Amino acid sequence: MNLDRYAVIGNPVAHSLSPQIHEEFARQTNQQLKYSRIEAPHDGFESIARDFLRKGGCGLSVTAPFKGEAFRWVDKSDEFARESGAVNAISRSGDSTEGFNTDGIGLLQDFVRLGWKITGRRVLVLGAGGAVRGIIGPLIAQGSVLTVANRTEKRLVELKAQFPDISTMPLAEVPGDWDMVINATSAHLRSTELNVDPHIFSDARCYDLAYSCDRTTKFVDKARRHGATDAQDGLGMLVFQAACAFGLWRGVDPDPIRVLEGLRES
Ligand code: ATR
Repeated sequence: MNLDRYAVIGNPVAHSLSPQIHEEFARQTNQQLKYSRIEAPHDGFESIARDFLRKGGCGLSVTAPFKGEAFRWVDKSDEFARESGAVNAISRSGDSTEGFNTDGIGLLQDFVRLGWKITGRRVLVLGAGGAVRGIIGPLIAQGSVLTVANRTEKRLVELKAQFPDISTMPLAEVPGDWDMVINATSAHLRSTELNVDPHIFSDARCYDLAYSCDRTTKFVDKARRHGATDAQDGLGMLVFQAACAFGLWRGVDPDPIRVLEGLRES
């Protein structure tokens, strides 16, 4: 039997949990499909994505560092992808490709799971790169009062031009007193230190877009040590954004919470 084929494309991609998550969604919903990993060279996204889809691949999950390139490459895209300039899921229909960004929805759904309300809350976002662009519109749409802090100023200026409702400040000058702190820097990927005043964690709910299945992330650990009300990593967001992509591809809704519990247990 010829199974519908999907894959996650990124670099690195060896440790991606997406195959495990999507295969579990497929089992839950009785969908017949195969989902694999593709590590593309840094200059090879377009040719490899095109080749995979031309040979019958039905869809791709896109991860770092290709989300921006994927947005520029697809034939059309949804409003979240356009707002963020980034695509994390591609679906093919005939010869045409459509790009989506489900990261922001994934984050909001994880906040619902955690019971964290964001409407009217003072939310500090650390970092001003690609990951932030994916979540900022949905956070503003939910009525949170956003401050974005970054190490270098250039990205803050660009972000403020696109999202005039946010406040911005240098990372080194961030004061305390937040309802929520979200880490959207790539410090963990580059194995560098995220230097922030530990007072920012005090009495705040802290969320790391990065995740780790078997231990806490550095950010979560630091937040817990410095008085956070609660601190969580981004595994929930990963599973929810995947569930949203799966629904777009297959037209059925899997149960993300069961998959999330399974990942934590395993
Ligand atoms: P991504 O797509 O993962 O967001 P990116 O677009 O390269 O990756 O953005 C990385 C973000 O993490 C940037 O905001 C970067 O800050 P700078 O603009 O100052 O480079 C931030 N970042 C990465 N490592 C960091 C560190 N050690 N401390 C503080 N910020 C860091």
